[in-house]
Amino acid sequence: MSDPGIAEKLVEVLHRPDGDPALRPVHTIGISATGYFEPSPVARNFCVADHFCAGKTDVIVRFSNGSGCAVVHDGWSDVRGMAVRFHLSDGTDTDLIAMTLPEFFAPTPETFLEFAEEAAPREYEGETPWQKILNYLHLVLPKRDPYPGETISPDDGAIEFADKNAYSQLGVMQAAQIGAPTSYVRAAYHAVHTFVVTGPDGVRRWVRFSWQPIAGVLTTNAEEPPVDDYLRAELKDRLAKEPARFSLMMMIGEVGDDFNNSSRPWPPHRKRIMMGTLTLDAVPEDQIAQSEKLSFNPGLLTNGIETSDDPVLKVRIDSYKISSEWRGGTPCPFSEG
Ligand code: HEM
Repeated sequence: MSDPGIAEKLVEVLHRPDGDPALRPVHTIGISATGYFEPSPVARNFCVADHFCAGKTDVIVRFSNGSGCAVVHDGWSDVRGMAVRFHLSDGTDTDLIAMTLPEFFAPTPETFLEFAEEAAPREYEGETPWQKILNYLHLVLPKRDPYPGETISPDDGAIEFADKNAYSQLGVMQAAQIGAPTSYVRAAYHAVHTFVVTGPDGVRRWVRFSWQPIAGVLTTNAEEPPVDDYLRAELKDRLAKEPARFSLMMMIGEVGDDFNNSSRPWPPHRKRIMMGTLTLDAVPEDQIAQSEKLSFNPGLLTNGIETSDDPVLKVRIDSYKISSEWRGGTPCPFSEG
């Protein structure tokens, strides 16, 4: 059983020295877009949730940079987020929150707290060319050089933690090499946790969701990082010309797969179902109300979709409510209920 105060401790620890208490402690910089979701013809055979059975469901999506730094650094290597809210036909909402890492850093709230404490951003310590050569000789990847103006390193503490804790190695290595997307709609996003979906025949399946961009994944050239602030302007320009689309893929777990630990991948050959297509075609004018103040929650689910017993997913439900209250966000519909 988790320490009842851990949800709050996690939010405290995630706040960065260069963050802003009036904004999100992580995924601070972002932009929202609107559009609709259309289920595939097979989606309703796997899940009775309204948006998998309805015709079109209106959505609002917030894309974000994972960092809690309140200054825009779009060109810097960072995990990106995609939080989707589906406005269901009965007037209620459901959320699906995803990020560009396929696996999380830790299996439990307690281990994530330890990770977050040790991985807290710290002063950049660059490597000399000699240290780099020595690292190569020891088969250790050399550290990335800081970007111009980058004084706080997001990776050093995380890499030290991963050296001692094997469960975080996959997530940390992927995060350290993730780079920057050329566009928020040219990245794949993973909801990471396992959810339980119920079909019309009452069959329950343990599944993981991810969004695949129809335009394909494309990162910037790491040797020539683009200007600091391009992702929001790119999205506005792109959607003014043509819609952007994502496929929602659902991977079905099998006996032996880890359902309650999002730091562990499932075998890549698991069955995947194409659940539908998301089309984004507008950027709301009022980005304060429609992005900054919005509060998503991974526990805002609907009939046909439940949480698994993943303890990290469970703690997030409280952490997001606390964070939203602290920053003066609009309570998510779930908190009001
Ligand atoms: C114990 C683990 C985690 C904790 C404590 C945590 C904490 C938080 C907090 C406090 C926020 C800001 C919420 C707000 O103020 O509205 C946030 C935002 C976010 N988190 Fe997490 N997080 C965790 C794991 C994850 C995972 C596994 C994912 C990927 C699926 C994720 C993706 C995101 C995204 C995309 C946002 C931005 C949502 C938005 O645009 O409003 N987080 N997280």
